[in-house]
Amino acid sequence: MRTQVAIIGAGPAGLMLAHLLQRAGVESVVLEIRSRAYVESRVRAGVLEQGTVDLLNDTGLGDRMRREGLVHEGIELGFEGKRHRIDLKALTGHAVTVYAQHELLKDLIEARLRVGGEIIFEATDVSIHGIDGNSPSVTFSKNGVAQELHCDYIAGCDGFHGICRTSIPDGALTAFERVYPFAWLGILADAAPSQGELVYMNHDRGFALFSMRSPTVTRLYLQCDPADDITNWTDERIWDELLLRFRCDNGWKPNMGPITQKSITPMRSLVTEPMQYGKLFLAGDAVHIVPPTGAKGMNLAIADARVLAQGLVDKFQTGSTGLLDRYSEICLRRIWRVQRFSWWMTSMLHRFPDASPFDRRRQMAELEYLAGSEAAARSLAENYVGLPLELL
Ligand code: APR
Ligand code: PHB
Repeated sequence: MRTQVAIIGAGPAGLMLAHLLQRAGVESVVLEIRSRAYVESRVRAGVLEQGTVDLLNDTGLGDRMRREGLVHEGIELGFEGKRHRIDLKALTGHAVTVYAQHELLKDLIEARLRVGGEIIFEATDVSIHGIDGNSPSVTFSKNGVAQELHCDYIAGCDGFHGICRTSIPDGALTAFERVYPFAWLGILADAAPSQGELVYMNHDRGFALFSMRSPTVTRLYLQCDPADDITNWTDERIWDELLLRFRCDNGWKPNMGPITQKSITPMRSLVTEPMQYGKLFLAGDAVHIVPPTGAKGMNLAIADARVLAQGLVDKFQTGSTGLLDRYSEICLRRIWRVQRFSWWMTSMLHRFPDASPFDRRRQMAELEYLAGSEAAARSLAENYVGLPLELL
């Protein structure tokens, strides 16, 4: 089997890359370890930056998102029993759209299969070869039959636990990492969102986030110990803790309903540099992780795919690798700004186990500054709706 670009992983990075390449006439094959049903139902992030929304619309993927996505023109920050609105639209002219990652993946998979593009689901034993030479390849098994895919380039879009990053020889990459001393316990509840915008809450007992997926589904998170086990959290305990942390002077609280999904996710910041080794290009969670507080993971993965697609298309159309050679540099400049924002939101909103009373007062001062200063609020807003992607 032969293709121009072998893409490992059918997440936002891999599927968006395949979509953009296909539109420019570059062939690719996507290899995914999981089943289509699994990929299409895995509960992940859900906030799209304006630039991501524009890309979906501009490349023919926006129909369902425009119908079902929820446009949010503001977010709220809560502390000391009060909530303060950050008016994203007034401050930046832009908004964000709440649309679940797996819904976007359904749209991407459907669009790819419609044009006859290939996605090999349930590919096992995926392994990459020859990345430092001129004829890279990928071996894998499908239904117990070993296969080999020859290609010009490999795109490692296989997430944090994938095999691409770890196939690069030791010493070629540098990792910059911060692991946080807390995790998020996330739930989906069959309950109508009790208000239209997200609420980020800093409470003495820890962070809590009110979000949503649709007019009938509420998404909620609460900070917990990263070593905690989800079986320690009965539905009753989760609701008690959420209601305590969201308690507000004006009596607002999330609506309750049956919990249909719950899980605990650890939090880290990670950047691995550079994002290329020979014929292998890494994109998305395979090469950087942000804590979820700024809602940036999916948007960063899609931004990588966009830059990589441009470089690859340029190479196949003109023979020049000028753009492709700058892939890592172009992406990393923006990635570090997004890392800074995600770290800052995380630091401002969570309870650190070793925080001193000084740290706590400083956090409150920071939130009060945001609530009272248009300049401070605009800085948050321009990062939240998404920094521009400077392609060239
Ligand atoms: N072979 C083939 N596929 C693999 C392998 C492997 N060895 N290992 C992992 N995969 C697949 C996973 O099953 C997953 O479908 O690669 C895909 C990676 O997708 P994501 O983890 O969604 O990563 P990415 O596309 O970079 O998107 C990042 O996803 O994790 C969220 O919050 C994160 O929103 C962010 C986004
Ligand atoms: C979500 O709805 O999953 C979500 C929203 C905002 C965040 C993180 C996650 O900052």
